[in-house]
Amino acid sequence: MLLLRQCKGLTRVGLLKTQRVQVLESLCTRWGSSHGGQESGQYQRRNAPYSKLALAGLLAGTGVVLAYELHHSQAERAASTTLQPIAPSPSMPTYTQEEVTKHCSIEKGVWVTYKGSVYDITEFVSLHPGGNKILLAAGGALEPFWALYAVHRQDHVLDILSEYKVGELSAEDRLKQQSVKSLDPYSTDPVRHPALRVNSLKPFNAEPPPEILSDHYITPSDIFFKRNHLPVPQVDPEVYRLHVDGVPGVEPLVFSLEELKTRFPKHTVTATLQCAGNRRSEMNRVKPVKGLSWGIAAISNATWTGAKLRDVLLAAGFRPEMSEQAFHVQFEGLDRDVTGTSYGASIPLNKAFSEDGDVLLAYQMNGEDLPADHGYPVRVVVPGTVGARNVKWLGKITVSKEESSSHWQQNDYKGFSPATDWDTVDFKSAPSIQELPIQSAITQPAEGTLFDRGAGEVTVKGYAWSGGGREVVRVDVSLDGGQSWQVAQLQSGEKGHVPAPSPQPGRAWAWKLWELTAPLPPGAQELEIVCKAVDNSYNTQPDTVPPIWNLRGVLSNAWHRVKVTVKDE
Ligand code: MTE
Repeated sequence: MLLLRQCKGLTRVGLLKTQRVQVLESLCTRWGSSHGGQESGQYQRRNAPYSKLALAGLLAGTGVVLAYELHHSQAERAASTTLQPIAPSPSMPTYTQEEVTKHCSIEKGVWVTYKGSVYDITEFVSLHPGGNKILLAAGGALEPFWALYAVHRQDHVLDILSEYKVGELSAEDRLKQQSVKSLDPYSTDPVRHPALRVNSLKPFNAEPPPEILSDHYITPSDIFFKRNHLPVPQVDPEVYRLHVDGVPGVEPLVFSLEELKTRFPKHTVTATLQCAGNRRSEMNRVKPVKGLSWGIAAISNATWTGAKLRDVLLAAGFRPEMSEQAFHVQFEGLDRDVTGTSYGASIPLNKAFSEDGDVLLAYQMNGEDLPADHGYPVRVVVPGTVGARNVKWLGKITVSKEESSSHWQQNDYKGFSPATDWDTVDFKSAPSIQELPIQSAITQPAEGTLFDRGAGEVTVKGYAWSGGGREVVRVDVSLDGGQSWQVAQLQSGEKGHVPAPSPQPGRAWAWKLWELTAPLPPGAQELEIVCKAVDNSYNTQPDTVPPIWNLRGVLSNAWHRVKVTVKDE
């Protein structure tokens, strides 16, 4: 998949509107006339009537037909029960995974594997109702993508696929997929979704492709960005204990997972997490910074369910009057480095204990047990606060006068002046990042997309979010580098569903997706698409990166810019 991600063709052009129309027209001429325009409502063989579904998909883009089911394993189970694998045919050639991986673009051919068979789907790509997203699987396995998009779990889809079969995957590579184990501390890390763009494998850090990110208001857990500093710890839920100490004059207490689930009221909060390093790559382009070069997708949105930290602190003996002796709540993870040091962070006590702060000790994400990568069995979710304080695999909570002494609280996740360099930086001089500033970015179109002028219009999509519970109230989009602006439509819920009720003031923890469809400016050869968001404190984003550049590349929230080309037919 790494090879796949380096393939240029995959990140660029999708089905342009005019191409969609051409495909539609050719479909109509091929099938429509001979079948009196009747639609079977099914995908069928290439020489049979094409489906209502395909036509709907081509007309509507990708969102409508791509139903997502949150339960990944459920989806996989369903996929394996509904679809029968195609019987191996001994007459077909055998290919290694390496050979398959080379076919990862339209230019090189698009090959995929499914249940041990190899398919050359190059010809099918332009017909795919989900547009170019199928290219994300190019050179790799289809299973993880079909688990993500439940619409594929139907027999006729497999029927179509069977027409593109070119061979079998070598037995050795089939086995390899199942048996990679070693003494490596990361060998027990979970299997990850291949659509993720990996920034580092060990520890695992990855973000989803932007065009998938904005397909879902609630980000599926599989493709939710993952930010790990250390190997993922293996935690036995029976043995798991959460230690709480530091409450003035009270003995330390311990809670089992069962107690956290049953002793405290269960709360669900929809909250966006964003890494402080989101969009760091844009700072890197101004002047090199230290850190993983995140794109625009080190941010995701989920529902989190668990006990309120406030309730657990009260059960541990904390009382409001104690807030004169304690100002912070520290968290320690169960992930450890080679010296035995665990990941740690802290938040101000007033956020931790506030009734409206909604800080959770979450044991569920998107309605399921937390996935291993996201902190199983318990993590802290601090809505409105930088990702770094949302400690995963939570082992210990300490109420204290001081902030956490952890490296990640003291010597990382802090912002500095553009004038500060590695010779002059003094980490003690800057406050730790807590609430994040306003943010927005364009998820579609991708940089470098080619538009046919005949398409007539352009659709721009993205996300917007602000820290500290401040609600995004507007997103402005420009097609001419910021000279003129149009207001985008905001979406706070899954598309086509009833929008979430407006959040209470100060408790807007979830992002808004946004969209704008506008006519292509006449004569323009290149568009510089720009977005900027405004929150309910009228905070907005800075227009350029240099004035906010800092040596760690954090808090990168300048106007997001994407250049696309308009070509005359
Ligand atoms: N908690 C532990 N125990 N270990 C970690 O490495 N990473 C932090 C935070 N909590 C981390 C952690 C950082 S920097 C971020 S941005 C978020 O987790 C990412 O959460 P996610 O992987 O669930 O997206």
